[in-house]
Amino acid sequence: MHPAIAIDGPAASGKSTVAKLIADRLGYTFINTGAMYRAVTWYMLEQGINPADTAAVLESLPSVPLSFGKDGSRSVVLYGQHVLGEELTSRQVNDHVSTIAAIPEVRALLVERQREYNRREPVVMEGRDIGTVVFPDTPFKYFVTASEEVRAARRAAEGLTDSIAERDRKDSSRATAPLAQAPDALLVDTSDMTIDQVVRFITDNIQQ
Ligand code: CDP
Repeated sequence: MHPAIAIDGPAASGKSTVAKLIADRLGYTFINTGAMYRAVTWYMLEQGINPADTAAVLESLPSVPLSFGKDGSRSVVLYGQHVLGEELTSRQVNDHVSTIAAIPEVRALLVERQREYNRREPVVMEGRDIGTVVFPDTPFKYFVTASEEVRAARRAAEGLTDSIAERDRKDSSRATAPLAQAPDALLVDTSDMTIDQVVRFITDNIQQ
């Protein structure tokens, strides 16, 4: 099994953009784990299930009709034949995803799917707990961050309403797999870096 490239960090730190570009450069598959948590959240909301009602979430979890596949060199989440896209970044999903992601059984289900991807092929995987929980043994761990101001500006530039400070607070304080830098991860503060500089910095470090 090829060691995964683990990229973690807070909301809107630019992780997805750089992880995708790094995967392209290395010829690896890009796995966006946030989309997996977002998809479960979207589905619960679609069913009229209150994300704060853990018992109701757990009751429908075993039969969630989502599958985790690939479109070319990136991961996708499918609902039937439909590839989920814009649904995943709605205001509603942003507001509730951290609640769903705090449920240990949801995490266990998705972490297993995430490891499956890496059993098949080399991956660049992006999330909150990739270096700490999903692939604690990989030597390639990066914690990508930026100041809160810069992150808020980046999200606003995407035209999205997102309570990133609130999500970070919830993600960092949950009991299971909180957002945290792995002790052996390299910290990359991207506040004053261009995307290209971040991609080069990380790929150079991987190839050293
Ligand atoms: O795009 P952004 O960085 O804002 O968020 P995302 O990566 O799409 O993740 C959305 C949410 O999913 C996070 O706020 C976490 O609550 C959860 N998440 C998680 O708990 N663990 C992961 N590995 C990835 C995402």
